[in-house]
Amino acid sequence: MTEDVRSAPGVDARGAVARAAPDVETLRASLDAVGYLTDTGLCTALFLALRLPQPLLLEGEPGVGKTEAAKALAAVLDTPLIRLQCYDGLDVAEALYEWNYPRQLLAIRLAESQGTPLAEADLFSDAFLLRRPILAALTHPGPAPAVLLIDEIDRADDDFEAFLLEVLAEAAVTIPERGTVRATVAPVIVLTSNRTRDLHDALKRRCVYHWIDYPDVERVAEILRRRVPDSPRVLASGVAAAVRRLRLPELQKAPGIAEGIDWIRALSLLGVERVDAAAADRTLGLLVKYREDQDLVRARGLDWLVGEGDD
Ligand SMILES: Nc1ncnc2c1ncn2[C@@H]1O[C@H](COP(=O)(O)OP(=O)(O)O)[C@@H](O)[C@H]1O
Ligand SMILES: [Mg+2]
Repeated sequence: MTEDVRSAPGVDARGAVARAAPDVETLRASLDAVGYLTDTGLCTALFLALRLPQPLLLEGEPGVGKTEAAKALAAVLDTPLIRLQCYDGLDVAEALYEWNYPRQLLAIRLAESQGTPLAEADLFSDAFLLRRPILAALTHPGPAPAVLLIDEIDRADDDFEAFLLEVLAEAAVTIPERGTVRATVAPVIVLTSNRTRDLHDALKRRCVYHWIDYPDVERVAEILRRRVPDSPRVLASGVAAAVRRLRLPELQKAPGIAEGIDWIRALSLLGVERVDAAAADRTLGLLVKYREDQDLVRARGLDWLVGEGDD
């Protein structure tokens, strides 16, 4: 029993992707237009993943833009982003599909009370199928493929990784009551990992792999201005430089780009045009969110944080 809906007429998924990403530079400009900045390495990896096509594995520290890359791809392809957030204990049912038991029971009771026959196949029809992210992505009708984001795969356990490998290899899943469901339009798959553990070589082998480095101060400033467009240029540079200074191993949670964005939003709202020690003092909680870390920063000095007295 096979449910092969792959040959849906009029669906030209490859064509849709090729039009959105005809070459690396066009893709880069399109990503830029939706607010996502790439360098040549990252953009090439994204391009290849789309066009080969192969799943993309993005690794890097928290906050370097892994999740955002998948969102940006979905925006560029004008297609839904379907996200599976991984965690310890994530099981296949939550990732793939579940049967809606309460509804099935209700249908059985109703059929009994009305004396109408109910075939087993009816109970396993679409009406009772809850499509979780992977199945939803595989059965997305197109024309452009859905972007399936499997976020923070390093948080899931080994078994889940093994299961995922199968899905990646086949672009198909088996539902015992229904048979094999093949992808209507194979999704664009983006896996991310914060590298809290190493992933299996077998998984990596299937993917285009790219390590995203923490961006330098200029790029962070550019990203900040992209996210908070009306913020002054000097403010963005100041915030980016402060975030860079705080990338200290002794902090429990060094701020990343996300905290930088929050901070610059707050400073803009307060009408601050340039970061100084006084502004940092009253808004430190947007940037540094552990009391001990705040003490540490204050001990070093807010002048140091905002680069006053450097020159
Ligand atoms: N290259 C980039 N272009 C635009 N925004 C970015 C970029 N990198 C990071 N960001 C922003 O920084 C924040 C953190 O990014 P995110 O994708 O959540 O990081 P990660 O998933 O790697 O932990 C988000 O608000 C995102 O919009
Ligand atoms: Mg993320």
